[in-house]
Amino acid sequence: MRQKYDLLDALEKANLKGRSILGMDAFRTRDELQGLLDVAAFLEPYARTGGLNIIPSKVMASIFFEPSTRTRLGFESAMQKLGGSVISEATPMITSRVASGESIEDTLRTVSKYVHIIGMRHREAAVEAAVKAGAEVPVITGGFGGKEHPVQCIVDVYTMWRNLGKIEGLNVLIPGPELITSRVAHSQAYGLAMFNANIIFATEKDGRVPEDVMERLRGLNANVKEVIDPTGQELEDLMSQCDVLSMPAWVRGVPKEEPAKSEFLELAKKYYVGMGPLKKAKEAGRTVYVLHPLPRLDVEMDFEIDKTENSLIWDQVELSINTRMAMILCILYGT
Ligand code: CP
Repeated sequence: MRQKYDLLDALEKANLKGRSILGMDAFRTRDELQGLLDVAAFLEPYARTGGLNIIPSKVMASIFFEPSTRTRLGFESAMQKLGGSVISEATPMITSRVASGESIEDTLRTVSKYVHIIGMRHREAAVEAAVKAGAEVPVITGGFGGKEHPVQCIVDVYTMWRNLGKIEGLNVLIPGPELITSRVAHSQAYGLAMFNANIIFATEKDGRVPEDVMERLRGLNANVKEVIDPTGQELEDLMSQCDVLSMPAWVRGVPKEEPAKSEFLELAKKYYVGMGPLKKAKEAGRTVYVLHPLPRLDVEMDFEIDKTENSLIWDQVELSINTRMAMILCILYGT
């Protein structure tokens, strides 16, 4: 019973009932975000087992205009573990009427008549306007273009909180050759700022985090620092000195055409995360924890890191179910 009352308290604290999560600004206060993490903590044992039949009459639509493994299937697993059911459109550009030219707005207005909540991904950030105009039920974005990926941010902050016991004061390094379109980096920074972590972006001059993101971070009084055009040695030092090395999955930003693609991958070599900095930290009596939202390529990191105490990468995957369950439940409970 005690847990039940804790769950109700946390659901109230998260204050998401009936609302969409289109960005981290869905959380107006640190307390609201903490409420969601508390719900996720309550649900963690249920996610690991058979779930709980708490919203059996509710239906989710997952509509993904961009490829996804974790976000789409994670949403679907989470909804089913809450007792709800799912209808899914994984290839809408082929199998929905969007392929015939129907607008996103009309599509979402239609789907809203069938379901109680929508999980969605789209390659364009501008789709948000159509979502706001068309959707008549709450929408959770699993990434709109290069702007935000709040679902991944919640997985990441929960993973840090759960494994390190706190977020406040952590030195979190977010390194990559291109952070302009890294929606994971942007959302994660907003979440970290709300918990007063120290954020360090390390990137190239042409890959800097957009000014509107930096401005919003300053508005959150974020402890944020940029290291521009770092040398390989500077990166190695930053990697060995941080508490959390949060890799932002920069592969979405790799140019499609040659020679830009080869030039980018050549530049990216200095951002490779190997064992060296982790061992250096270990010799100094510290542990650097490594996060990566996946998918990853072998040009980004040494996959052997998975076998070390440093890696929280597969924890992120595992903890993505209870965190997704929490998002859905916070939005749908009592509706
Ligand atoms: N982390 C993440 O968003 O993975 P997917 O692209 O597979 O959904």
